[in-house]
Amino acid sequence: MIDYPLCNRIRSFNDPEMSVNSVLANQIAALFHSDDPITWAGIYMLNPLTGDCLLDMFQGLPACMKIAAHKGVIGAAVDSQKPIVVSDVHQFDGHIACDTRTESEMVIPLKPSNILLGVLDLDSDIPGFFDNIDPKTIEELQDVFTATFDRYLPL
Ligand code: SME
Repeated sequence: MIDYPLCNRIRSFNDPEMSVNSVLANQIAALFHSDDPITWAGIYMLNPLTGDCLLDMFQGLPACMKIAAHKGVIGAAVDSQKPIVVSDVHQFDGHIACDTRTESEMVIPLKPSNILLGVLDLDSDIPGFFDNIDPKTIEELQDVFTATFDRYLPL
């Protein structure tokens, strides 16, 4: 269940001795293998020159490598710089389907020091799955992954 205990567990992986890749790998694995019906969990990194989002660490089926600027749920989350919960992907104009099982989706922008570096993307095969997550928990999840992304910024 996406709740505070899971967020705390995910945060605990952010050990400064470890590489960002290993930390992110464990963090994404913890989400993907939680009890929740999450069919895909991963990161897309923003190319600041083009506005495209590029596939990074993930678990799930092989996914679209590049999301063009302003396209899909990811493009919408980048443009608004706010988390987006999509109850029914079939009703979202421009949704990009990487897996036909996907019914609902949540995309959370990651902005260490207010610089948007990428997004966390979660898919579910259950319609409306992300609707019932408390907004405070979404903020916590954003904060946890933002703390990891902070390590991409120069000191
Ligand atoms: N559905 C996303 C594309 C990425 S996949 O879900 C992994 C979108 O519409 O932007």
